[in-house]
Amino acid sequence: MKAIRIHGRGGPDHLVYEDAPQPHPGPGEVLVRIHATGVIATELQWDETYQTATGSPRTLPIPGRDLSGVVEEIGQGVTTFAPGAEVYAMLGYGRDGAEADYTIALPDELAPKPHALDHVQAAAVPLSALTAWLALFEHARLEAGQTALIHGGAGGVGVFAVQLARWAGAQVIATASARNRDFLHELGASVVIDYSAERFEEVVHHIDVVFDLVGGETLARSWQVLKPGGVLVSVVSPQPPADVTKGHDARFAWFIVEPNRELLIQIGALIDAGQLRPIIDAVFPLSQARQAYEQGTKGHMRGKIVLRVAD
Ligand SMILES: NC(=O)c1ccc[n+]([C@@H]2O[C@H](COP(=O)([O-])OP(=O)(O)OC[C@H]3O[C@@H](n4cnc5c(N)ncnc54)[C@H](OP(=O)(O)O)[C@@H]3O)[C@@H](O)[C@H]2O)c1
Repeated sequence: MKAIRIHGRGGPDHLVYEDAPQPHPGPGEVLVRIHATGVIATELQWDETYQTATGSPRTLPIPGRDLSGVVEEIGQGVTTFAPGAEVYAMLGYGRDGAEADYTIALPDELAPKPHALDHVQAAAVPLSALTAWLALFEHARLEAGQTALIHGGAGGVGVFAVQLARWAGAQVIATASARNRDFLHELGASVVIDYSAERFEEVVHHIDVVFDLVGGETLARSWQVLKPGGVLVSVVSPQPPADVTKGHDARFAWFIVEPNRELLIQIGALIDAGQLRPIIDAVFPLSQARQAYEQGTKGHMRGKIVLRVAD
C-alpha cells in the first residue's frame, strides 16, 4: 500500500510518500480502508509519534490520528462492525496512523461516519471535536447562560468549541484575527476580538469559562478576565505559572484527548441534526502530506487541513 512514513524526528521534510506493508487485523482489530485523514501539525513533535505505548522506539512510523473510511476486514471477535461499514475515528497514540491506504483501528475507537458528511468532511472531525467537547463539558462543565471565551476560535479545535458552546446555550466570545471576524459570528460567537488589534482583557470581564488554544502570554493574561469560581481549560500548557494564578479564585484544567467512540457517536448525531459542522481550510492528496504539514505548522488555518487518500 502507499503511506506517509516519517524518516526522522523533526519537521515535514522527514515525511516520505512510499510503499509500506499493508497491515492485517489481529484478534479484536479492524482493518480500515482510509478515504481521508485530518492533519494534526503538532503530531510530528509528540514523543508518542516516535515510540510505542510501552516506550520502545518505532521504525518509520505512519502519522495520522483522524480517519474516515470503510471497514475492509475484521479480526476474530469483532462484532461491532462488518466489512463495508462507513466509519470515522480518532486512533490512539503510539502506533501507526491513517496516512496510508489502510490502517488498523480498535472497535472502541470507531464510530459510524455521520451520514451528512462525505469522507473528507468527516476526517476533519474526530480529534478536534472530541477536544472541544471534553474541554467545555467535562473539564469546564459549561452551562447554558454562562459566558465562554475561546482563544484561537477559528482554528481546528476552535471552530468546534465555538459551535458547541453556542449549542449549549452559552454566550460565546472568541479571539481570532480580523479576517475571521464574520466567519466566527456566523458560527455562533456574539463577540469576536481581533487579537492583533485589541487586548482581550481590556474588552471582556467576568467570564465563566476560558478555553485556551493558544498558550503562552494569552493563557497568562486570561486569569484576570475570569469571574471568581471560573474555570480556565488549556490544551496547550499543562501548568500555569504560579505568579500569574496568584490571587485569582479560579480553577485550572489541562488534559490530553483520547479516543472516545461513545462521544463520537454523540458528535455525529449533532452533525446529522445540523447543529455542528466541520470547517475545512484545505484538502491535499496524500502524496502531498509534506506541503499540508508545512501549511499547518504556520498556525493560521481556518478549521482543518485534510488529506484525501482514496477518490
Ligand atoms: N492537549 C490536547 O489533547 C490537544 C488536542 C488538540 C489540540 N491541542 C493543541 O491546541 C492548540 C490548538 O490546536 P488547533 O488544532 O486548533 O490549532 P490550529 O488549527 O493550528 O489553530 C490555528 C488558529 O489559531 C489562531 N491563533 C493564532 N494565534 C492566536 C492568538 N494569539 N490569539 C487567538 N488566536 C490565535 C489562528 O487564527 P488566525 O489565522 O486568525 O491568526 C488560527 O485560526 C495546538 O497547540 C494543539 O497542539 C491539544
